[in-house]
Amino acid sequence: MARIPEDLIDSIRSQADIVDIVSDYVTLRRSGRNYMGLCPFHDEKTPSFSVNPEKQIFHCFGCGKGGSVFSFLMEHENVTFVEAVHHVARRLHITIPDTQGEREAGSEAESLARVTRFAARFFHDRLLNSGRDSVVRRYAEQRGLSEETIKSFGLGYAPDSWNDLLSAAREKGIGADWLVKAGLAKTGEQRTYDAFRKRLIFPIQAPSGRVVGFGGRALSDEDQPKYLNSPESPIYRKSQVLYGLYQAREALRRQGQALVVEGYMDLLGLHEQGIQGVVALCGTALTREQARLLARYGQQAYLVYDSDQAGVRATWRAIEPLVESGLWTRVVRLPEDYDPDSYVREHGQDGFMKLVEQADSLADFMGFHANLQAAGDRDEVFRTLAGLIRKTTNLVHREMYREEAERRFPALQGLLASELRHPSGPGGRGGSGGRGGSGGRGGSGTVGRDRQATPTAPARDGDERVERDLVQLMLSDRTIAELVEGQLEPQDFKYPLYRRIVEQCLAGLGDGGSYDLSGLIDTIGDDEAARVITELINTTDSGVHLEQRARDHIVRIKQKRLKESMARLMEQIKQMESGGRSSELNDAMATYMELKQQEKVLLRSARGD
Ligand code: UTP
Ligand code: MN
Repeated sequence: MARIPEDLIDSIRSQADIVDIVSDYVTLRRSGRNYMGLCPFHDEKTPSFSVNPEKQIFHCFGCGKGGSVFSFLMEHENVTFVEAVHHVARRLHITIPDTQGEREAGSEAESLARVTRFAARFFHDRLLNSGRDSVVRRYAEQRGLSEETIKSFGLGYAPDSWNDLLSAAREKGIGADWLVKAGLAKTGEQRTYDAFRKRLIFPIQAPSGRVVGFGGRALSDEDQPKYLNSPESPIYRKSQVLYGLYQAREALRRQGQALVVEGYMDLLGLHEQGIQGVVALCGTALTREQARLLARYGQQAYLVYDSDQAGVRATWRAIEPLVESGLWTRVVRLPEDYDPDSYVREHGQDGFMKLVEQADSLADFMGFHANLQAAGDRDEVFRTLAGLIRKTTNLVHREMYREEAERRFPALQGLLASELRHPSGPGGRGGSGGRGGSGGRGGSGTVGRDRQATPTAPARDGDERVERDLVQLMLSDRTIAELVEGQLEPQDFKYPLYRRIVEQCLAGLGDGGSYDLSGLIDTIGDDEAARVITELINTTDSGVHLEQRARDHIVRIKQKRLKESMARLMEQIKQMESGGRSSELNDAMATYMELKQQEKVLLRSARGD
């Protein structure tokens, strides 16, 4: 779909009525300035889902989800941002024009989609029309693939030919260049030829159901490679697609749990035995985007990888993105020499589900695969566990993972708790950067949920309270945001989450237009931050002396940063003293005095004299 000009998005946003649109899906009742209803994103009996018509945002006090009208549609309808904008535009009878550049970009993706749709149909027909004794039919039968599965997943057959697809496409007016772009044909020295030949074809679908790429399994052992995968293209981003998600999405919503397997055939084998809610990778490692995608449908993920070494290694790598995305993560251990496909064929649905029920906790999995006799390994397991546990954005899960780990490794008792309570920095150890770091402390997206579950909100230290309150004030009042703009830099905020929000707030001031909070939520492109923003907006108290409170916070943050600089400098001064480098020492001391002076001025101005 074509990109939509920024100003048009703004205009659509400003004309949209979130109450109106949410009402299509949720029964809302007026309650003061807000509307309340039962949250569509989690199970509840009493309404904690609120829609604020003034700010044009929604927020659920139960599960913490929140955002703009566009984020609501993205989440609820599982569509992209652009699709959500189109949806709202249609409701408002606004037409989104196709400008030149966009027509090109849009039409390339559209043409590619037309090519992959054609190819999927072509391969599928080839399989359906193959005689019972054909190689591919015999192969499908030997792999236990039923007619139902072949149809549900649109499986296909690429015949043993250099140009079967190419010529069928030509007849439809699809040029070879488009097949090459879609990875379906290759250009050699002499000629262009079909990329997939003599293979069972798995069409890979985006969450919307659109076919974006293909996997192909060789029909005999002599043919290499065993699996062939489409390359990336403007419509196929491997990190964002999971095989089988389209077919699994209803079950995922219903069960709340996903089984993640490595291979196409694993997924289909489980499907044959009536096991639902399965997604597979397409020859790549599990990414953060894929984990987030899953987290939109369910709360739990079970990794069911092959029991060989490669499978175990891949499992280690897949755990982190899942945990980070707030999915309750478990590892299913298959006996040696099995993969999910072969296991389920032998033991059936019940046998397989028994293994799923007995899935390992993270601690169990690590304990099983690490050599705990060696002190170094033990340390490593402890560090990995603590690091992982700290990364989860779900505070309830954090406690549960910790308990499990302590049960598995009693020696960790206390150690883990204190490690989790006092991480080495706001972003966790080593500040590895990235978005993961921000899950380190409170202020994560699940704070709202946690508050409901337990009467006490997570403890925030003084620094965090100050940053949080200041951000809340900025969100509630444009003049306070302007005040901050003149006094602080986003870098002055120590907590990455608040820093990101401040960056966006200040950017929002820049264009002189309206300080539009629902626009802010859309541009921040970060679920956690979006959630915290709506939570802050919805818990704003209409207290007095807001500006004075903001000023106090600004002073405190500035003073804090000055003190940190001074402490660092003092460290250096001490080292210089012992190293006897006198000219540098003089400079450093002069700087130190200067900072001290700045602090005095700051505090004096804060007192108003
Ligand atoms: P496996 O080698 O474990 O295959 O690859 P499998 O799932 O057991 O398949 P069968 O039962 O032998 O047919 C798992 C996944 O790794 C990717 C594919 O996505 C496959 O589904 N893979 C494997 C490749 O991309 N290329 C290969 O050559 C092999
Ligand atoms: Mn297999």
